[in-house]
Amino acid sequence: SPAAIIAPSILSADFANLGAECSKMIDSGAQWLHIDIMDGHFVPNITFGAPVVTKIRSHVDKPTAKHGKGTFDCHMMIAEPKKWVKEFQKAGCDLYCFHYEAAISSTAAESPESTSELKTSPKEMTRYIHDCGMLAGIAIKPDTKVGVLWEILETKEDKERPDMVLVMTVHPGFGGQKFMASELPKVAELRKRYPDLNIEVDGGLGPGTIDQAADAGANVIVAGSAVFGAKDPAEVIAKLREAVDK
Ligand code: DX5
Ligand code: ZN
Repeated sequence: SPAAIIAPSILSADFANLGAECSKMIDSGAQWLHIDIMDGHFVPNITFGAPVVTKIRSHVDKPTAKHGKGTFDCHMMIAEPKKWVKEFQKAGCDLYCFHYEAAISSTAAESPESTSELKTSPKEMTRYIHDCGMLAGIAIKPDTKVGVLWEILETKEDKERPDMVLVMTVHPGFGGQKFMASELPKVAELRKRYPDLNIEVDGGLGPGTIDQAADAGANVIVAGSAVFGAKDPAEVIAKLREAVDK
């Protein structure tokens, strides 16, 4: 597997001190920040939008390398992922991770306020994100089979191939939920087929669950409550990294 990347989820941060909380995570050894965007439609919760990302960007230096320190990993739990690509790029997002389920859903196209421009497919989304200068990630919910990803991962078109796959290990919407080990066979199958792929896991990760996820082959580790709730976040980040790189 590629080297470990630890991505604290700022969903568990103190939102009244977001800038300081974010720089603290980078100073504590995290490479990425995982930024959960929820629209109240794709998931039953609302977080924040691009203006907040712009503000935290001013507290965290832009990465100087692909996948480097300070990468903003925006997890877009939104029904219309195509609509927000440019806006998030301007706000300082480095990796735009959309949900497969949202990209194939016809709801976006059928809702009265949206136009045909918002119709999309996973490959089109990936190409569009790359054209806008960001890395692209594709996420799957627990109810989605991993096999839906083979086509896009096998594409010969470099621009249409995602840079990362996110396998959700909870039903998206809230921090602090219980880790679903039932999702790990998806990670193992992805790793078997793609030794160099960045495979991210998100939901319920912490010192108690990291070994299973690392053994399955995950290398990008999101952790919200386990890191922000810790007395010493640096220690938890180091533990997570050691488990993946061992
Ligand atoms: C859940 C979010 C996660 C969440 C993880 O929908 O996508 O990123 O913040 O939180 P923990 O690590 O507490 O499960
Ligand atoms: Zn997330």
